[in-house]
Amino acid sequence: MTFPAVDFALRPSANPLPAEQREAVLAAPGFGRHFTDHMVTIKWTTERGWHDAEVGPYAPLSLDPANMTLHYGQSIFEGLKAYRRPDDSVALFRPEANAARFQRSAARLAMPELPIDVFVDACANLVRQDLAWVPRGGEASLYLRPFMFATEVALGVKPASEYLFMVIASPAGAYFTGGVKPVSVWLSQEYVRAAPGGTGEAKCAGNYAASLLAQAEAAEHGCDQVVWLDAVERRWVEEMGGMNLCFVRACENGVPTLVTPALTGTLLPGITRDSLLRLAGDLGCRTEERRVSVAEWREGVADGTLTEVFACGTAAVVTPVGEVRSAEGGWTVAGGATGPVTTRLREALLDIQTGRAVDPYGWVYKVA
Ligand SMILES: Cc1ncc(COP(=O)(O)O)c(C=O)c1O
Repeated sequence: MTFPAVDFALRPSANPLPAEQREAVLAAPGFGRHFTDHMVTIKWTTERGWHDAEVGPYAPLSLDPANMTLHYGQSIFEGLKAYRRPDDSVALFRPEANAARFQRSAARLAMPELPIDVFVDACANLVRQDLAWVPRGGEASLYLRPFMFATEVALGVKPASEYLFMVIASPAGAYFTGGVKPVSVWLSQEYVRAAPGGTGEAKCAGNYAASLLAQAEAAEHGCDQVVWLDAVERRWVEEMGGMNLCFVRACENGVPTLVTPALTGTLLPGITRDSLLRLAGDLGCRTEERRVSVAEWREGVADGTLTEVFACGTAAVVTPVGEVRSAEGGWTVAGGATGPVTTRLREALLDIQTGRAVDPYGWVYKVA
């Protein structure tokens, strides 16, 4: 079945936040606490496909108590950023990659797939409408949260026949104020994030609900973040909280190797991870995607062959890992400091994202 192309209607907010108050928010936005004046909504039904696309005023939703999402959790999301560049233009970073992952998440949860161009237009149209909300300067950005959930009202367990796709936007400050600070991590042996055949590759809400207890356990052990191990052997390192992990092996003939856990089906394929693999190769590193065991991490740090570890993802971009703790003891990475390869890759990626450097990859998508 083919459905007609999606055109967006614009219904501007009658009560946008006054400029003075908006500027006060932008001066210290934090993360995910303030939202812009507008949001995108697109409906989907079995009969009509995607329809009623609108950029309208940001407003609460009204939900029937029998809304299927509340009961069975068909809910997926994405996260991407718009940066204001030195020439005052505004660009998204690799929105097509988020759109493609959103389609894969939808397929895994038996939800309809939003066309890539509609996803990208939805993000771009919202940013254009709320352009004044894109912060200025450095690493501050406008974080976009596209998401989709079932809206059918019924209690039978089955894929819903109605969905709502939305995009909301929230200004975000630089993740690290006062310099990049390495985090401490707890190796979770009791809880797992994802199992073979499960939903680990999808960005679905339930994965995050299931992660909260392990994150709380990490905090109880004095750690900033949880590190996920594989579900079968509890031997292979998978991810850190909501970020992918990268390991730097010491230079051979002056060339370091960037190693990142392979996408086995239980990891979320991060767009930052993918971008860093490409950048690292072009900056002269060797790159490897393969399984990394806890033993390799511990022994590599002990014998000096594993020199740096960092996590990567849209929210914090690149975060060094300085300390590891587990039930069997712990160890320090890179003396608890930020290593040179981590710093170089972080700067190189942010330079492209924020427009401080030319983008040779076609990753930057200008919207205004
Ligand atoms: C579980 C998980 N892993 C990794 C990532 C990093 O992905 P990306 O680089 O696309 O933000 C995220 C964030 O989306 C995540 O939630």
